[in-house]
Amino acid sequence: MPVQAPRPDALTTSAPPLLDSLSTAVVLVDRQLSVCYANPASEQLLGQSTRRLVGSALGSAFVHISLNLDLLYDTLNNGHSFTDNDVTIVVHDGHHLTVDVTATPLDLHGSQFALLELKQIDQQKKISKEMQQVAQQQAARDLVRSLAHEIKNPLGGLRGAAQLLEKELPDPQLREFTRIIIEQADRLRKLVDRLLGPQKPTHRAPHNIHMVLEKVRQLMMLDLPPGVTINRDYDPSIPDLPMDPEQIEQAVLNIVKNGVEALAGSGEIRIITRSSNQFTLHGERHRLVAEVRISDSGPGIPPELRDTLFYPMVTTKANGTGLGLSIAQTLVNQHGGRIDCISWPGHTEFTLLLPIRK
Ligand SMILES: Nc1ncnc2c1ncn2[C@@H]1O[C@H](COP(=O)(O)OP(=O)(O)OP(=O)(O)O)[C@@H](O)[C@H]1O
Ligand SMILES: [Mg+2]
Repeated sequence: MPVQAPRPDALTTSAPPLLDSLSTAVVLVDRQLSVCYANPASEQLLGQSTRRLVGSALGSAFVHISLNLDLLYDTLNNGHSFTDNDVTIVVHDGHHLTVDVTATPLDLHGSQFALLELKQIDQQKKISKEMQQVAQQQAARDLVRSLAHEIKNPLGGLRGAAQLLEKELPDPQLREFTRIIIEQADRLRKLVDRLLGPQKPTHRAPHNIHMVLEKVRQLMMLDLPPGVTINRDYDPSIPDLPMDPEQIEQAVLNIVKNGVEALAGSGEIRIITRSSNQFTLHGERHRLVAEVRISDSGPGIPPELRDTLFYPMVTTKANGTGLGLSIAQTLVNQHGGRIDCISWPGHTEFTLLLPIRK
C-alpha cells in the first residue's frame, strides 16, 4: 500500500504568504502525483479553484494534461529538474491553454515533492512559432508540388508512347504489357494530381458554414459504419462568411473522414460550431471568427506524428497517401484561417478557425 507523504505543512501554513504572493503559477505535487498546494496565480491561470485542485491526482485534476509524467517521477525519485515546453492543459470547462512547465525537486521534512512552475506561453512567441510552422509546412508542400510537377510531363510521354506501341504490336497477346504500363501510369497520374493539390482558383462569396457542414455530414452518412454516430451542436447565430464552399467542404470532409477511419467501426464524431471575438490569425487581428470543432472518440493521434501531422505524405495507414490534412490546411490557409489540433487517447479534436470580419 502506498504510504501517503505528510502534507508539506511548512508550505501550506507558514510559507503561503510567500508563494501566495508570487505572480508565477506554482503547484506542488507529492510522490503519488497528488496536488498538495496550488497558489492563487495558478488558480487564475487555470481558471480552476484551488479547492478543486488540491487533493486530486495531477492526471485527473484536468480533462487532459500533456506533461511528461515519466520525467516528473524522475524528479520525485531521483531529484532531476526538467522543463517540458508546450504542455497542453484542458480544464473542465473545455478551455485549453499552452504552458511551459518547470519541475524542481523539493525535500520537506524528509519527504519528496516536486514544485511545478507553469508559465503561459507568451502570445507573441506563440504567434511567431505558428507562423514559423506554417512557413515550414508550406516549404514541404512546395517541394512535393515541384517534384509532382516534374513527374507529370514524362509520365504523359510514357503513357502516350505505350498507346502508340499498342497499335503497332503484331501479337495481340503482347498488349497485356502495354495495358499494364497505361494502367500504372494512370494510377501515378492520380497520385501526382493529389500531390499537386487544389488547383482551381478560389471563388469567394458569403456562405453559411452550416450548409457546408450538413453537406459533408450527408455525404459521410452514405456509408457510415453502423457503430459510428455523427452528432451536431451548431450555433445558428454565426453570420455568413466569405468562402469557396467547395473548398471548405473538401477540408471538412478530409478531417471528418480521418475521424471515422480512426474510430474503426465504433464511436462518436461531434461537429460543433461557435463564434469567437477578437482572434489573431496569421498575425492579423479579426473582430469575429467562426470555429468549427470536429472531434472523435478514437485512440488519438500517434505521438510521433505530433510535429509533422500537417506535412504532405505523413501517414500511418496502409492505403493512405498522407495528403488529407495537408490539403485541408492549404485550403483553410487560402481563406486566411487556421487548423488547430489537440489529441489524447479517447479524444481528438480539429478546430477550423475561419475569419468572418476583420
Ligand atoms: N482523427 C484522427 N485520429 C487519429 N489519427 C489521426 C486522425 N486524423 C489524422 N490522423 C493521423 O494523421 C495521419 C495523416 O492524416 P491525413 O489525412 O493527412 O492522411 P491519411 O488519412 O493517412 O491519408 P489520406 O487522407 O491521404 O487518405 C493519419 O495517417 C493518421 O495517422
Ligand atoms: Mg486522411
